[in-house]
Amino acid sequence: MPDFDHPDVVLCPGGPLLLRGEHVVQDAEGRQHRTTRPVSAVCRCGKSTDQPWCDGTHKVLPDKLKP
Ligand code: FES
Repeated sequence: MPDFDHPDVVLCPGGPLLLRGEHVVQDAEGRQHRTTRPVSAVCRCGKSTDQPWCDGTHKVLPDKLKP
């Protein structure tokens, strides 16, 4: 049963995609990464130096480059 009070996936406006729980994320090169935290932030802007995870770089991007 879906838990509408605690969604598994949350899209942050202008920022990352948050994943709650354990997941495997496949990056653009096909490498797979396991989540290691209760909530993991997946980069959507493509500028993080820690792909596929968000490192906060999106915060300094001009609006037109934010996801
Ligand atoms: S979404 Fe945060 S660095 Fe890309």
